[in-house]
Amino acid sequence: MTKFIVVASSKGGVGKTTTAINLGTALTIFGRDVIVVDCNLSTPNVSLYLGAASVPITLHDVLNRGKKITDALYMHSHGLKIIPASTSMKDRREIDYEKLQRVIKELSGTCDFVIIDSSAGLNDEAINAIKMGDEILVVSTPELPAISDALRTMKLAKDHNKKVSGVILTRAYDDELELSKKDVEAILETKVIGIIPEDETMREAVKMKNPVTHTHPNAPSSLGYKKLAAELIGEKYVESKEKEESTADSFLKRLGLK
Ligand SMILES: Nc1ncnc2c1ncn2[C@@H]1O[C@H](COP(=O)(O)OP(=O)(O)O)[C@@H](O)[C@H]1O
Ligand SMILES: [Mg+2]
Repeated sequence: MTKFIVVASSKGGVGKTTTAINLGTALTIFGRDVIVVDCNLSTPNVSLYLGAASVPITLHDVLNRGKKITDALYMHSHGLKIIPASTSMKDRREIDYEKLQRVIKELSGTCDFVIIDSSAGLNDEAINAIKMGDEILVVSTPELPAISDALRTMKLAKDHNKKVSGVILTRAYDDELELSKKDVEAILETKVIGIIPEDETMREAVKMKNPVTHTHPNAPSSLGYKKLAAELIGEKYVESKEKEESTADSFLKRLGLK
């Protein structure tokens, strides 16, 4: 059965798109079939992060030019599938949201997960993304202004009878200047299911136009996304620690000789 996951937050710049593509890639690494759909139709970014800005058919062509949703589906490197939106200003026009809902639903049964990247704000675009979700994941940085916007998104989801299944804290420094996981859970009354550290390598991945989970699989952010993906599919996650110590050391430790 296909699960539709919406990555949401009314605040821009908190890591929604980064989460959509990296959670998608991590799930793909774990053998799941995943499609990331760019439902941020006004300011789409998915294709730009993935070096696929000039694909011939986009979600806008499906909505406006009678193309099929499968015509706008592309296989990105290492198995992640994407449905990009058009980055051209020429495609800016009123969205037929009923049609959007209908064409995205057609993906049901074609993969394990459809991950929907959504726009900032509390407008029709954000609402319609939320309406497509079986699960809503709210993304926020661990700072009060972002958490306050996360709260608004959660209220919006509730107003549309959608359950927020978890909060993902991104760009976390894990220091005393930011809100703790406990604080966030108390304010939002929802479980934090993933913490993604602030990670300098993210900039390199953006420059390389590929997910960090692919370009730097052992970077702190990549490990965070893999842990989150494991949590979502209900598997225990184990990191290969051997890399950090010599084979001889880890062997002796395992035998209880060190
Ligand atoms: N864990 C992270 N560490 C460092 N930079 C990050 C991290 N997550 C996201 N970013 C950066 O934050 C910026 C905003 O991310 P983006 O995913 O586009 O946010 P949104 O989709 O919510 O607007 C981008 O420059 C992205 O590379
Ligand atoms: Mg975005």
